[in-house]
Order: sequence, then structure tokens, then C-alpha cells
Amino acid sequence: MTVTGSCSRIAVVGYGYWGSKHVRVVSSLRDVAVTVVEADEQRLSEAGAHYPAARLCRSLDEAIDDVDGVVVATPAGSHVAVASAALRAGRHVLVEKPLTTTVADAEMLVDLADRSGVHLMTGHTFEYNPAVWKLREIVRSGALGRILYIDAQRLSLGRYQVDVDVVWDLAPHDISIVSFLLDEMPATTSVWAKRNVGIRHSDVAHLRLDFPRSRTHAFVHVSWLSPRKVRTVTVIGERRMAVYDDISDNERIRIYDIGVDPATVDDGSGAHGLPMTYRTGDITSPYVPFEEPLLVQDGHFVDCIRGDAACRTPGRRGLDVVRVLTAADRSMTTGLPAEVTPALDDATRISAAAS
Ligand SMILES: NC(=O)c1ccc[n+]([C@@H]2O[C@H](COP(=O)([O-])OP(=O)(O)OC[C@H]3O[C@@H](n4cnc5c(N)ncnc54)[C@H](O)[C@@H]3O)[C@@H](O)[C@H]2O)c1
Repeated sequence: MTVTGSCSRIAVVGYGYWGSKHVRVVSSLRDVAVTVVEADEQRLSEAGAHYPAARLCRSLDEAIDDVDGVVVATPAGSHVAVASAALRAGRHVLVEKPLTTTVADAEMLVDLADRSGVHLMTGHTFEYNPAVWKLREIVRSGALGRILYIDAQRLSLGRYQVDVDVVWDLAPHDISIVSFLLDEMPATTSVWAKRNVGIRHSDVAHLRLDFPRSRTHAFVHVSWLSPRKVRTVTVIGERRMAVYDDISDNERIRIYDIGVDPATVDDGSGAHGLPMTYRTGDITSPYVPFEEPLLVQDGHFVDCIRGDAACRTPGRRGLDVVRVLTAADRSMTTGLPAEVTPALDDATRISAAAS
């Protein structure tokens, strides 16, 4: 279903913390009419007060006949029900991360979208972030040398979720970023996670992701229980190192021309001799234009609906990330590394999504 008329009609389902941001950016897009679908009366009337031009509905059923695309910004556990209803009605759908909470549900949505001939897009917002594009360009240029490891941190005094733990809430971002940087999905994952506060879910976790083709690993630390907001991805290369700090105002990427090499000659100084030699050089920060990733992402969704673009983060990309999260759950249960299955044509998928 391609929309050929001048105005695209988009429903945003869920006007909570994140859905309200979708409504803001979708409302700013040219030739787009917005419908807000929100089950909670008070939130719906807040949406009406902020966006007087928006149509307001209490359920997707009420809205579906008059929209071309649906953004699903409800809690993760309800994604499959809302998205499948929209896909069955033949509408294009953008689903927030994580796409679903089980592999079977994600496969069902991908299949449903294929059969309905509509776009299913996953809200991997960081794949629409110009700083992540720049970091990917740097990694792929070979400027850092072989990637030895990647370290990602996503910490703050976070919003504890009702239906998912900290891994399912925050790690989708880092799994999406590191697999996008490396053009590869992890083959195995090991997880350590702990519930510190409350009775439901782990609120701090460390994941290790193994990328055999790239011969590297990523270490992801996610936490809802940390005093400082930290959003960094550090890429350690054999020649140089790069740090992406999403919170920095004007130096979101820094490249450190530094490194360590094993000393090749024993200088005979015994205990005082260092086993390594250290290289030090410039720290540079490439210019990264600021564009709001959510605006880029939702604008891309509308372009896809209009037939002007091939989806960069299709449902299959979301499914791949759900496979990793499911493996993480297995690792948490067994305490052992868990295989991410199946590892099909992942690189092909990511390259296609990125081109
Ligand atoms: N991409 C990102 O950076 C990012 C950031 C935060 C949250 N998210 C995602 O956004 C989604 C929403 O998270 P949130 O923090 O905004 O949740 P929230 O609880 O603040 O808001 C969810 C809203 O959806 C409404 N809702 C639930 N089911 C509904 C239904 N069937 N029909 C209509 N309204 C319904 C609720 O009343 C609520 O207002 C989650 O999937 C989350 O993972 C993404």
C-alpha cells in the first residue's frame, strides 16, 4: 500500500513519555495529519491541549479507517497486539523498540507485513542518529584499525518498566548500535543481571556480545540504578580509539590517536621495564551536524509509506535484536553463554538496511 495523495495520515498509539515525542515530531512533518490514540482519558486530553489540530481517539479501532500508517508507542508487552491489528488492516507500521517480547511474535509480525505488502519498521532510533552514522563511517574506513572490543554504557536513574527488565528496555539500543557499526549480529551472548530494587525485574546488567566474523566483542552495561546519566560507546581499535558520547553538546565523537603495542625489545632493565610501548597523539572531534534522530526516523517512515525510500530498519532488523534479547534471557537463566539463533544472512540484512 503506497500513499500517493499529498497528505499522509499517521496515528501514534500511546501518548506516554515516548509517544508524546513521536506526536511532536510527526506533527512537525510536512503534509502529515496526526491522530493520537490513547486509552487514558487524562493523557488524551493533554494531547488535545498541546496539539489542537490532531484527531483524538481512544482506541486504534476508532482510528484505523482514516490512517495510512501507525506508530506503536505503547509498553513493549502490548506491541504485538497493536501492531498485528494495524498490519491486518493493511496499514504501514512503525513499532518502538523492542519490536516484541518473544521471537515467535516478532516472526509473526514480519510475516504478516510481508503478506499484507506493507512496511513494518522498527524504532531503532540510534540508527537514525548522525553521530552513529559518523562512528560507523570511521569504523568502516579502517582508521581505527582492527576493532579489539567495543564498550557501551547506558546508565541513569532510569524509568523502571512494568513489563520488561533493564536488558529488554535499554540494551536494544546498544545491540542495534554495535551490530550496525560492525555489520554483524552477535553469535553468542553472556549476561550478568541483578534486581536491586522492587520485586519485578533486573535493574542492572552487563552483557557480552560475541562477533566471530569481526573477531571482536562488545560489552554492554545497562542500568536504571546509577546516579549519572551516561550514554557512551567506546570503540577500541588496534591503531586508534573512538568515543561516542550522546550527551556531549558539541563533541559527540572524539578520536584518540593513541594505542599500546607489546614491547619487542627487552631493554634489560628487569622489573622497571614495561612490557608495553605507548603511542600518544592528537585527539580530534569530527563535525557532526545535529538532527533529531526521532525526527529523522519518523520522517523516514513517512517517506517509506509514500514509496520514496527503502526501509532502513525493517521488521527483520527488530526480529534480529529480539533474538539476541531472548538469548540474553537464556544466559541469565543458565549462567552460561547462549547462542543467538539462527545466525542467518545477518550481514546482508544490516548492509541492506544501511545502504
Ligand atoms: N526509542 C527510544 O529511545 C525510546 C525511549 C523511551 C521509550 N521507548 C519505547 O516507547 C514505548 C513506550 O514507552 P513509554 O515510556 O512512553 O511508556 P508509557 O507508559 O509512558 O506510555 C505508554 C502509553 O500507552 C498507552 N497505551 C497502552 N496501551 C494502549 C493501547 N492499546 N491503546 C492506546 N493507548 C495505549 C498508555 O495509557 C500510556 O499512556 C516502549 O516500547 C518503549 O520501549 C523508546
